[in-house]
Amino acid sequence: MAGWHLGIIGGSGLYEPGELEDAQEIDVRSPFGEPSGPVTTGFLSGVRCTFLARHGAGHRLPPSAVNYRANVDVLKRCGVTDLVAVSAVGSLREDMAPGDFVVVDQFIDRTIGRERSFFGPGFVAHVGLGDPVCPRLSGLLADAAGAMDARLHRSGCYVAIEGPQFSTRAESVMYRGWGADVIGMTAMPEVRLAREAELPYALLGMVTDYDCWREGEPEVDVSGVLEVMRTNAVKARRTLAALAASLPAERPESPIDRALDHAIITPRNAWD
Ligand code: ADE
Repeated sequence: MAGWHLGIIGGSGLYEPGELEDAQEIDVRSPFGEPSGPVTTGFLSGVRCTFLARHGAGHRLPPSAVNYRANVDVLKRCGVTDLVAVSAVGSLREDMAPGDFVVVDQFIDRTIGRERSFFGPGFVAHVGLGDPVCPRLSGLLADAAGAMDARLHRSGCYVAIEGPQFSTRAESVMYRGWGADVIGMTAMPEVRLAREAELPYALLGMVTDYDCWREGEPEVDVSGVLEVMRTNAVKARRTLAALAASLPAERPESPIDRALDHAIITPRNAWD
């Protein structure tokens, strides 16, 4: 058994990882193009952690322009064993209020035109995505988030929209009917790519707004989202620190470490 190396992807409002010891910024190159920026690597409670801001420094990249493949690829090249992402989300449920945390465990993907696989012509793999997040990592993340001063939902379904516009009221009502609990623009295709990269993935959703489905209520806007994020970013950083502190010294293997073992359909002699 080896140790843990947490990859952390910070979303809106979380542009730096907080108190990483021995922090070093590194530019890592990827054959998939430009990642959102350099990574910062260091230690949280003695656990190696490598951080990447999903939207880049100064929030330059809209959700559709993030190079999700390069981001996951550079974190894999850094040697991360597990990936924790933090994202601002809108709530589609009355009982998930701004300020709450949701450890997301299912997804509906409504994004279009994003590069969603590392594989292509010449090498075909179909990884399983029935259970898209790692239950072990998500459980540890939920335990860490549960110790914060915020209401926690240990599961939830995330609908990923293309953006950059927020949804129409009709769409928002439809997503509620589909069973989605929260809405965002960035978890897809990140989740798919993490699985293809054989990286156990967990997502901490930070509820910032009620989107626009509530009758007679104003619709979501960026200033409201940012206001909640300012308070919640501190709690998100504390959650990550608590997660790192809670990890056992040794990391037992996860079946996701070998997700490709039963996924490749192209015969070996065709790609060797
Ligand atoms: N991110 C935060 N709130 C959101 C919303 N209501 N819709 C899409 N993405 C979001």
